[in-house]
Amino acid sequence: VEQTYIMIKPDGVQRGLVGEIISRFERKGFKLTGLKLFQCPKELAEEHYKDLQSKPFFPKLIDYITSGPVVFCIFANLVNCIYFGKAWEGVGVVASARKLIGATNPLNAEPGTIRGDLAVQTGRNVVHGSDSPDNGKREIGLWFNEGELCAWAAALEPWLVE
Ligand code: GTP
Ligand code: MG
Repeated sequence: VEQTYIMIKPDGVQRGLVGEIISRFERKGFKLTGLKLFQCPKELAEEHYKDLQSKPFFPKLIDYITSGPVVFCIFANLVNCIYFGKAWEGVGVVASARKLIGATNPLNAEPGTIRGDLAVQTGRNVVHGSDSPDNGKREIGLWFNEGELCAWAAALEPWLVE
């Protein structure tokens, strides 16, 4: 099951963009399977962004992510969800969510994307999305405890996928 980990960064929460951002994934047709509001401890932020440890901006990034609460959620593509005892093949929620989010630098992000519409600087780019299905799994494991995800039957499914 391909799922993506989406985090609304502290600037998104402070600016009152939580509803707007979650809404974009919902309206796309992705299915929300986990949701939390959380003050991120330093150690977890460092683990989450460990691939960027050697970058000069790493300390600033950790300060940013721990500067206030974040909202994090998991989205799945309906065709990838397991429920009613069925499992469907299908991929795409991770890459598609990255497209909805837009380029890392909001000034380069296309209009219509979250960063393109709602942000102006890389250091305040309002939202994170997993960059691969494997990283999606890793991040979900990092931020969610077992039993916190919800597999639920989406009544709209027949109107979203054939
Ligand atoms: P995420 O979804 O947050 O992982 O962003 P990304 O995948 O588009 O970019 P990347 O993983 O390369 O960088 C992670 C985050 O570090 C970015 O989203 C920015 O918040 C921050 N970042 C990246 N490059 C810079 C930089 O040059 N300066 C600053 N201040 N922050 C940066
Ligand atoms: Mg990244």
